[in-house]
Amino acid sequence: MLVLGIETSCDETAAGVVLDGRRVLSSVIHTQFDLHGPYGGVVPELASRRHVEAALPVIQTALSQAGIELKDLAGLAVSQGPGLVGALLVGLNLAKGVSFASGLPLAGVNHLEAHAAAGFLELETGDFPVAALVVSGGHTNFYWIKSPLSFELLGRTRDDAAGEAFDKVAKLMGLGYPGGRVIDELAGRGNPDRFELPRPMIGQGLDCSFSGLKTAVLQLVRARWGLEPAPETDLADLAASFQAAVVDVLAAKIDRLLVRRRVGAFILAGGVAANRGLRARVQALTKKRGVRLVLPPVTLCTDNGAMIAAL
Ligand code: KG4
Ligand code: ZN
Repeated sequence: MLVLGIETSCDETAAGVVLDGRRVLSSVIHTQFDLHGPYGGVVPELASRRHVEAALPVIQTALSQAGIELKDLAGLAVSQGPGLVGALLVGLNLAKGVSFASGLPLAGVNHLEAHAAAGFLELETGDFPVAALVVSGGHTNFYWIKSPLSFELLGRTRDDAAGEAFDKVAKLMGLGYPGGRVIDELAGRGNPDRFELPRPMIGQGLDCSFSGLKTAVLQLVRARWGLEPAPETDLADLAASFQAAVVDVLAAKIDRLLVRRRVGAFILAGGVAANRGLRARVQALTKKRGVRLVLPPVTLCTDNGAMIAAL
């Protein structure tokens, strides 16, 4: 069964073809970093307009890279939310049009559950129930997944998502947008113990909070350097100290979840799952608990069409 997945919920126009929910035949991603970079964040209207331009070529490339034509598909899947409304509408209406014209069935899928489904590509039916952390620019969600279509939300952020905190801290450090990857790189050269930062809600359940941590970084930057740019070594130490705080909190929650529930596997997914510090910590933690870790490749962790097709 060949399924084409279409994703336009934020600032990536993406399409992918997946065979039998198991094998990715193509995953084409047109990112809009260049468009939104100067504004320091995604501008929704610009994102929608770029999706309009990019969506058809991206879909056509996904089909040709998979070596198939529209008529070979069993069905279409499209990200139906959560996301930017105007951006979602582009993918949804395009998918409806293609479905209507071709007669192919269309399934709307939840974007966040699809992030976790990037991990399903490596699982067998017998591996369920599994747990997942979907940690992205918009969400920090812990899921209990009884079967591939049965998701229960166990915990989430009460304010900023972890990725949003990465992006905002990067912005206030003058590192540009999107900042998660830059902080990750800088952190590799910094001392995580140099600056003392809070670990919000680390001892409480599976809900998280990251807005106070972001404010703590802002106050530290203002107190130390005022309006001057911080020197490079200080920036690396600050990035490492901030990243360590986020990773400590997420690792503590994951550990709590794995102690409480017996799972066949743990999936770490979403854009922030690309973070090297988080990956290393979760690898060590799941090994200690004897739990199988499913860590999709970075290209399937950030927004993509293959995860939509997989779900
Ligand atoms: O899942 P995603 O591509 O889009 C959303 O649905 O939000 O996630 C994007 C988020 C951004 O906040 C970005 O800064 C963050 O993932 N991100 C990272 C890294 N790569 C991307 N955060 C930390 N370390 C990274 N290496
Ligand atoms: Zn996403």
